[in-house]
Amino acid sequence: MEIRKATHYKDYLKLNDLLNSQKLLSYENGKNCHDEMLFVITHQVYELWFKQILHELYSVREIFKTDFLHEGSLSAAVSSLNRIEKIQGILIAQLDVMETMTPMDFLEFRDLLVPASGFQSAQFREIEILLGLKLSTRLSGHSDLIIGQLAESDREKLLHDEQEELLPELIERWLERLPFTENERYVFWEEYQKAIFEMTEEERTQVQKNIFLTESEKLSQLKSLQENEDRFKALFDEDLYKKTREFSYAALSRKAYLNALFILLYRREGVLILPFQLLTCLSNIDENFSRWRYRHALMAKRMLGDKMGTGGSSGHKYLSKTVENNRIFQDLVSLPSYLIPSSRLPKLPLFLTENMNFKKVASACLS
Ligand code: HEM
Repeated sequence: MEIRKATHYKDYLKLNDLLNSQKLLSYENGKNCHDEMLFVITHQVYELWFKQILHELYSVREIFKTDFLHEGSLSAAVSSLNRIEKIQGILIAQLDVMETMTPMDFLEFRDLLVPASGFQSAQFREIEILLGLKLSTRLSGHSDLIIGQLAESDREKLLHDEQEELLPELIERWLERLPFTENERYVFWEEYQKAIFEMTEEERTQVQKNIFLTESEKLSQLKSLQENEDRFKALFDEDLYKKTREFSYAALSRKAYLNALFILLYRREGVLILPFQLLTCLSNIDENFSRWRYRHALMAKRMLGDKMGTGGSSGHKYLSKTVENNRIFQDLVSLPSYLIPSSRLPKLPLFLTENMNFKKVASACLS
């Protein structure tokens, strides 16, 4: 039997390549800026974590591509997404280290980088795309800027990637398959509508009878209640729902959206525990992305003030706009608008709760 050659730590991790990959422009140019090492290493560490995030995202995508999704696979998807969340935590925290560099120390070598910029990170864009944020659907002006900054080979690959099935579409398909809310014996949404409209009526009466409110305060609160009721109505009417969607980035079909809502409402029923964890992870990843964007925008302001970026954008101004406009799972994030207190939730019929908590049936239903 052939004896396997012992692997050495430095070979296994390719440390010769890794540790010889810090090419400091300021040293090559005789300026010897101490902080450039921190700048390069921080970016490289980010790119390594981006690679890990992509590894997890591709695995989740493969899981959701199948038409039969059993509990074990769903659990693996949740683990991957949870891992991404934790990595994002590191990515955000890492900016603290970057900020130990002062703006003056950064200025010392910044010009040597032009026109290199995080703008050109193909892995960052690949992550965005897999999560459904296409290059072509950004705020006006941003798409051209972003696409124009990419290296040609990256641009071709990313524009091709956009045509593939992305995570939101796969999640939507899976959500649409959730079987519990409508069948010949029971239509959950009829019960839910009743509960909502009863609740709104009670709230309306409470406002009208509240002696501590002025007339204008009453009017303003009644207006909010009406808006809330209209939002609910749009949820239960296909045409109204479509119209609402036209004005937002949200993309889930009504069926998928309602099923996601059902998962949130009955998250403690056996078969919905993992789906609930999955939706929570997706919302958290979206939020963490925005957190990173906001934190990075603040850092750009601190380092550059109102100067433009090395990639040619308006710098801090551009980055701040991406915080709210580049949300990924807008639909999931907006779901809480449609929640009602547990005490008001319709009680599910016994045949349904038995199905939802019976293991064998449960795994079949999740597929
Ligand atoms: C001194 C530190 C940094 C400054 C001042 C800075 C500044 C900027 C600016 C101004 C932009 C806008 C594009 C441009 O015109 O260049 C940008 C984009 C970007 N930067 Fe940074 N950055 C810094 C560190 C980092 C680090 C450590 C990363 C980690 C990979 C990073 C990743 C990115 C990414 C991914 C974008 C594109 C964001 C988007 O288009 O939504 N940056 N950065």
